[in-house]
Amino acid sequence: MEIEDSSKASYYKNKVDNTSNDLSGFLTQVGRTYLGEPISESQFKIIVNLIIDTLDVTKKDVLLDLGCANGLISNEIAKYANFVTGFDINQDLLIVANKHHKKDNINYIMSNIMDIDFTQYNAKKFYMLAVVQYLEYKMLRKLLQKISDQKESFILFITDIPDQEKLLNFYNTKERRNFLFTEIIENEKSHIGNWWYKEHIIQMGESLDLTVDIIDQNPDSDTSYYRFDVLISK
Ligand SMILES: C[S@@+](CC[C@H](N)C(=O)[O-])C[C@H]1O[C@@H](n2cnc3c(N)ncnc32)[C@H](O)[C@@H]1O
Repeated sequence: MEIEDSSKASYYKNKVDNTSNDLSGFLTQVGRTYLGEPISESQFKIIVNLIIDTLDVTKKDVLLDLGCANGLISNEIAKYANFVTGFDINQDLLIVANKHHKKDNINYIMSNIMDIDFTQYNAKKFYMLAVVQYLEYKMLRKLLQKISDQKESFILFITDIPDQEKLLNFYNTKERRNFLFTEIIENEKSHIGNWWYKEHIIQMGESLDLTVDIIDQNPDSDTSYYRFDVLISK
């Protein structure tokens, strides 16, 4: 996946392209592309199945989708769940979500994920897909602290975390390295967003008395060469 040109969520406020209203269009809209093309349907299924399996989603489950964007994935997860509430900061993407990815058992709410009152939701299973690159260390810690304060128990699946140790796997050609060292490092242009050390996330979770399981991505996934996932629970 290549999320282009910003680590700031506000960027998304202005970036809802007019895409075709099909799977490819919706994937492109949320930056789920590989080598400039929307990821394949089989890659999309890998992502959906991973969430279902990792969170062991059943028809009894109420889930929260933190950073749901155009609702493409919320809509799939809702087929296996009791109810999904999706939160996103970007109004335009939520309009798309409500128009194309709405079901009776889905609700979309415009909100910064930092402002969610988790006591309002009878949910213990949460997922945050391809969002953590927009968060700073302190923000993620604050979010985890809040969820932990407000929930007796929970499971949070965070996916697609850019792996700082694999930075050069991503910037892997002369042209890409040149872009990394000049545009990103010297000129401070933002690109993918924040890259994370696994150890930092483990340390963060443990400092909050949470259980942290780092999950290497399926080698068949397009993003496994530079991203990882994590399951955080209490
Ligand atoms: C790359 S998209 C991923 C969307 C979707 N989760 C997926 O995996 O297809 C990132 C989304 O996170 C949202 N986002 C980023 N920071 C956010 C925040 N602090 N609160 C709510 N939404 C946020 C953006 O608006 C954008 O829709």
